[in-house]
Order: sequence, then structure tokens, then C-alpha cells
Amino acid sequence: MKIMVIGGGGREHAIIRSLRKNQKISEIYALPGNGGIAADAVCVDIGAKDIEAQVCFAKENGIDFAVVAPDDPLVLGAVDALEAAGIPCFGPDKKAAIIEGSKVFSKNLMKKYGIPTAAYEVFTDAETALAYVKTSPLPAVIKADGLALGKGVIIAETREDAVAAVETIMLDKKFGDSGNQIVIEEFLTGPEVSVLSFTDGKTVIPMVSSMDHKRAHDNDEGLNTGGMGTIAPNPYYTPEIARRCMDEIFRPTVAAMAQEGRPFRGCLYFGLMLTPNGPKVIEYNCRFGDPETQVVLPLMESDLLTAMQACRAGTLEETDVRFSSGSACCVVMASDGYPESYEKGYEITVDADAEAEIFVAGAKREDGKLITNGGRVLGVTAAANDLPRAISKAYAAVDKVHFGNAYYRHDIGRRALRALDT
Ligand code: AMP
Ligand code: GLY
Repeated sequence: MKIMVIGGGGREHAIIRSLRKNQKISEIYALPGNGGIAADAVCVDIGAKDIEAQVCFAKENGIDFAVVAPDDPLVLGAVDALEAAGIPCFGPDKKAAIIEGSKVFSKNLMKKYGIPTAAYEVFTDAETALAYVKTSPLPAVIKADGLALGKGVIIAETREDAVAAVETIMLDKKFGDSGNQIVIEEFLTGPEVSVLSFTDGKTVIPMVSSMDHKRAHDNDEGLNTGGMGTIAPNPYYTPEIARRCMDEIFRPTVAAMAQEGRPFRGCLYFGLMLTPNGPKVIEYNCRFGDPETQVVLPLMESDLLTAMQACRAGTLEETDVRFSSGSACCVVMASDGYPESYEKGYEITVDADAEAEIFVAGAKREDGKLITNGGRVLGVTAAANDLPRAISKAYAAVDKVHFGNAYYRHDIGRRALRALDT
């Protein structure tokens, strides 16, 4: 079989590594991939948003199955275009991807179907929004409606910050048209849990839970990033909470999407907060999370391609999807300065005795060398029987990866370990 994976980050590298375990797959193409992915797949210089070129490539090269990993092409309708050209795909169509593409859509869906989430108001003009934040509770959580590279959420502690946030999103259009509408919602507290799930539009099978570390610096300080590391499973996510989430959130969401005529087939990501009043949805993503995938897929024991095909075929209920009872930890090594400005162009070397999987996110290949080419450069991932061992194994391997200007957090998994102790 010939497989095509759209995307070019650490998440896509992890997906490709897992797919490669299936002997039926003869060739994997990554569009565009990156310098690290090039060791595991044939990289093709077609951008993740260039849907027309993706369709042409798939047809010309006899692609049997396509995996559309990033949010942009999903929301733009890459799956619709590929399926129309006869290429079977893993990923939601445009109608279903709106669950991530529009926060107004997802909040209204949750309200209509009684799925627990933060209380909210929607605003379509700046004047009304500005009047609202003059008296609204603080902190106020202000979210641009559309995709904003994961940066469209501002938590305003003071009234001045709230006013500035509305102005930035709605008047200055910092996130472009994504800010034509905004959601202002209640500030929730509690541990966060990411749960990725497979769904075929009817059945939902949650994968092992995980915990992201979004802030740039140790102790959850500094700016929000795309994610500086992950662990799985998430110790806050007890079997009891998992049952509640299944009954109150996962099944109702999948049923609601089907009821709306938008059956979701693919990976549905539940960003949850375990509040004192029970688990609530912070956000939905229409795709695998990054860097959650880097810890979740290494723990998957059953075949990834089979699960992906079942999501498309509507046969998930009778499909074997299994995860190991072990733990995994991914430490993201970034270029110092990320998520703001940073230098790139440094050679990456890995000592031969590094015992971890390295998923490459931002690197290119030049004269046979791997060179840093992004903010998040790579994710060093280790799996072990338990979380303490997975964390020490991952950090031991981090010490064996070298590049100029490298930066990483030293406390990935520390909060999770504390939760295990109590
Ligand atoms: P998002 O970009 O939607 O993943 O949001 C980024 C982060 O903002 C989340 O991971 C949460 O930590 C935080 N956040 C989003 N919504 C809320 C909320 N209603 N209350 C508290 N924190 C929130
Ligand atoms: N790690 C969060 C995301 O993929 O959106």
C-alpha cells in the first residue's frame, strides 16, 4: 500500500513511525515532511495547505490512503477534495472539521446538546464586546472564533487587559478574519487533560490520556507555546473521571455531530479541564494533538492504519484498538527564544547511545546533516513501565542530543508525578 501523510511536524513524524510498523505499507510520502521525517518517508515539496497539488500528487502516484494531520487543510476541505478524487482519507471532512474551525460553532453545539463547558457569550462587533468586558467577571477568557495557530486565546486578568484583548482581536485583527467573531467565556480552574479519540461518526474509542505543557518555561511560566512536552497517561484522569467523560462528553459530542448532519470521522481531540464541578470541555480539535501524539502513539499496541481505516469505513465498533499500560514522556527541544524570535541553522547531532525515539518537528537536511529550522526542533520521547522511568529515560536522552541554542523545559511530568504521590 502507498500512504500519503499531509503535514510536516513532530506529530506527523510520530504518525509515520507508527504507520511504518504495518507490513502492508510499502511506501509513505510526507507532504511536505521535514529533514527528520525524510529518514522514514519520502518527502514531497507540497505544502500542507496546497490541496490542489495534493490531489494531483495522490492521483499521479496511485496513493491508496491519505492521512490529513494538520488543522488548516482539514478546515479548508482537503479530505473533501481527496475523497472526491477517489482517494480514501483519514480525517474529518470540512463540515465536521468546523468543530475546531469555529469556536462559536463548538460552543453553540455544546450548549444545544448539554455538553459541559464554560459559560460564554458570542460577540460579532467590538463595541458590544468592549461594553461587556467593562462589567464582566475577571479573569475573562477571550477567544478568536477561527484558527489562530493556537494563539487565539487570551486570559485577561484585569479590565485593561480584557479591553486590550478585544481590541487586538477584533479591531487590529491580529489573527485576521479569525477575529471577526469572538467568544468571551468564564474562567475555569483545575488540571487539564488531553484525550485524543478515534471516531467513525457513531462509535468513539478514546486513546490513552495525556498532559501537555503549554508554557515556555519551567513551573508553567512564560508565554503560551504550541506545547513544550507531554506525558501519558495523565494521572489526574482516573477511571472514574474517564467514565464520566465518556458518558457526559465523548459520546454526546459524537452523537451531536451526527445529529447536526456533520458526522465526525477521524481523530477528535478533547481538551478537558477537571473543574470542581466535573470535567468540562475547554476546546475541541479536529485532529491529533502536537505534541500529544508523540506520547500517545508509542503506547498504541494495535495497528494504527487499521484503526484509521475503520474510522472511515464506519467499522470502529468491531475494531481492535489497544494501548499498553505503560507510560511515555516527550520533552520538546526548541530553539532558545521560541515562541518569539529565535535563531536557526545549527547542526543537530545525536549520540549513538541515546535511548529514545526522536520525532523531528523543525529541521531540514543539508549535505546529509540535520539542521535546525524552526522554533520547536524535536521531541525526545521515551516509554517505560511507569511514569518516573519514562521521564528519566527521556531526560537522559535529551542530554545526548546537541544543537546550537537548544532550549527545553526541565520539569515535564513533574506535576503529574506530584499527582501520583497524592
Ligand atoms: P486553547 O488555545 O483553546 O488550547 O487554549 C489555550 C489554553 O488557555 C488552554 O490550554 C487553557 O489552559 C486556557 N484556557 C482556555 N479556556 C479557558 C477557560 N475557560 N478557563 C481557563 N483557562 C482556559
Ligand atoms: N497540543 C495542543 C494542540 O495540538 O492543539
